[in-house]
Amino acid sequence: MKKSTKVRFPSNIALVKYWGKHGNQLPMNASLSLTLQHAYTELELEAIEKNGADATFEYFFEGVQNDAFGQRVLTYLQNQPEFAEFLHQHTIKINSHNSFPHSTGIASSASAFAAIAAAFAKTSGITKNFSQEISRLARLGSGSACRSIYGPFASWGKLDGIDGTSDEYASPVQHIHPNFQDMQDAILIIEDTPKKVSSSVGHGLMKNHPFAEARFKQANQHCIEMFSTLERGDFERFIGIVEREALSLHAMMMTSEAYYLLIRPNTIEVMEKVMQFRQETQLPICFTLDAGPNIHLLYPSSIQDKVLLFIANELKPFTKNILYDRNGIGGIFL
Ligand code: PMV
Repeated sequence: MKKSTKVRFPSNIALVKYWGKHGNQLPMNASLSLTLQHAYTELELEAIEKNGADATFEYFFEGVQNDAFGQRVLTYLQNQPEFAEFLHQHTIKINSHNSFPHSTGIASSASAFAAIAAAFAKTSGITKNFSQEISRLARLGSGSACRSIYGPFASWGKLDGIDGTSDEYASPVQHIHPNFQDMQDAILIIEDTPKKVSSSVGHGLMKNHPFAEARFKQANQHCIEMFSTLERGDFERFIGIVEREALSLHAMMMTSEAYYLLIRPNTIEVMEKVMQFRQETQLPICFTLDAGPNIHLLYPSSIQDKVLLFIANELKPFTKNILYDRNGIGGIFL
């Protein structure tokens, strides 16, 4: 018998950053992200009962068989006891497509592992605590993937005094003021080449980092503040936390034992222009960075016309490409 499941799961951009892990993909601090809408992975899983035939596992990305990523996915699946029996009994083919180009600072592993975990959870018959289980299983593939299950904002990581938070899985942020329900994200591509240092190496460098303890404390504090900021609709605090987080993440990279620099001169040009524009116009716009040189510009839809003019007139010369996204609802089954 043939079973087939099709899913679409988005990427996300962290506002409070996960940077440093321990054990089996557990975070050293809590994080909180905005779920994207247009940047997603669409994935179809086809599983045919084996009837004694040899097992095959094929992973196609954008129509082309991708053995390197396929092997990473197979190893991940084999390591999850929940999927062991299903893997053993089926011949599997995955067709996966990303709605966004490669190396754009959009976390493709987040959308991919959220989609993979969701498709396998559904097809292999997991029903109990379904969304929570998908989030937990996605986390085991790529930490930040666990937040891509929910929208428009999700948090991951245990926070003292905040019910429902866990290191094992993410949860949706419950109380969002109308100010933050319609957020835009203009992704300014400064460099479209692959990252010089992978995130897993970056996480590892937090192990003996001289500022690790202070950083983990700062991130947890930012998360707690972000919950109340999103609830109250406070743009000023939102901007302060988001930009401080982006710069703290990169400060960690610049001050680790094996230090490195991912921001480029044009990243700085753009950040300065955004701060200046905000000062002059008093508009609620801010930047964040992923582990790379590209900039995510966040602003509410209500000021979109002014921001688009600002981008066209002042930022475009510093960019290679611009992708326009916004906050989304999380993953769906198609
Ligand atoms: O999920 P990973 O292991 O690729 O790490 C993601 C780290 C950041 O994107 C820099 C921050 C985050 O919280 O998403």
